Amino acid sequence: MTETSARATECCRTNVDRNEVEEVTVELVPWAPVESCTYDRVLFAPKPYTPADVNMERLVRGLAATVPEGHCYVAGTEPTGIDAYAELLEALCEEVIQVETDADCTVYRATRPPDFTPGNQIEEREFRSSVGDYTCRFVTIPGLFSWEELDTGTEALLRHTSVPDGAQMLDLACGYGPVGAFVGARTDCEVYATDDSVLMTTFARRNYERNGVTPAAVETDDCLDAFPDRTFGAILLNPPTHAGKGVTWKMFQSACAALADDGELWLVYNEIMNYERVLRSEFGLNTKVVASVETFDVTVARS
Ligand SMILES: C[S@@+](CC[C@H](N)C(=O)[O-])C[C@H]1O[C@@H](n2cnc3c(N)ncnc32)[C@H](O)[C@@H]1O
Repeated sequence: MTETSARATECCRTNVDRNEVEEVTVELVPWAPVESCTYDRVLFAPKPYTPADVNMERLVRGLAATVPEGHCYVAGTEPTGIDAYAELLEALCEEVIQVETDADCTVYRATRPPDFTPGNQIEEREFRSSVGDYTCRFVTIPGLFSWEELDTGTEALLRHTSVPDGAQMLDLACGYGPVGAFVGARTDCEVYATDDSVLMTTFARRNYERNGVTPAAVETDDCLDAFPDRTFGAILLNPPTHAGKGVTWKMFQSACAALADDGELWLVYNEIMNYERVLRSEFGLNTKVVASVETFDVTVARS
C-alpha cells in the first residue's frame, strides 16, 4: 500500500495491525509505485479532490508497475471523473473492461501491454515571486497548495516576519517551500522544514535548492512529530485550516512546546479564524497581531 500523507500512512498501518493482516508493506511515497513490472495487480481509487492530471499520472505509473499481461484496476464514481480515467486506459491498453458497477461506483480493469512506456501526464509549472528586495524561483505541480503563485497570506507572513541571523527556523507545514526559500535566502539562519505530504516536501527540497538554501532537515510527518526533541528560535506557519481543528490544535500545541525560551511563532491566517485569541486563551501565549492584509492577519506569539 502506498500513501502521500504521513497521517494517512499511520492510519493505514494501524488498520493493518488491527485487522491482523500479514505481509503488508505500507509506504509513504510521492509517486507510487516506483518500480516497473513489479505487481500482478495494481488497484487505484483516485481521490476526488486531487487534480485529474495528478490522478492520471498515478494511474499511468500504476499501469507501468503492473507485470506484462497483469491487471491494473481503477475505481470511482462519475463525479470523480472515472470515465476520463477509463478513457486514458483505453488509449494505452488493448483490453479494458468494465468489471463492476455498484450503485454509483464503476470498476475498470486494464490488461497491461507487454511493452509499455509511461509518458508524463502532468506538467510542472515554474514561476518567480518577489517579496521586498528578494525574488525566488519555484517549481510546482497542480494540487500543491497555491501551486500557480505565491499565496497572498504567505506573502503577508513573509513581509511582516523578522527572523534573526543565527536562528534555528522551522518552516512548519512547508508546502512547496516558499517560506523556507525566502527566509533562508534573506537571513543567515538554519532552516528546518516539515509537512504531512511527501509530495510537498519533495518539491520543498527542490525549491530550497533552486534558491540556494541548504536546509538542515526536511521531514515528512504529522505536525512536529519529526522533531520531538528540538527547539526553534522562530517557527513560521500558514496553517492547514481545512485539515480541521484536530490538526491545527496539535500543530499549535507542538509548536508551543518547540519554541526556544526567547522563540517566536509567526503565523498567518484568515481573520475569521482569530488564531491570535486562540493562541492567547487556549495556549497561554503572549500574542500580537502585527499586520492585517486583505482578509489575512499576521500574528506573532511568544511564551
Ligand atoms: C496553507 S498550506 C501552507 C503551505 C506553505 N507553507 C505555503 O505557505 O505555501 C498548509 C500546508 O499544511 C500541510 N499539512 C496539512 N496537514 C498537516 C499535518 N497534519 N502536519 C503537517 N503539515 C500538514 C499541507 O500539506 C500544506 O502544505
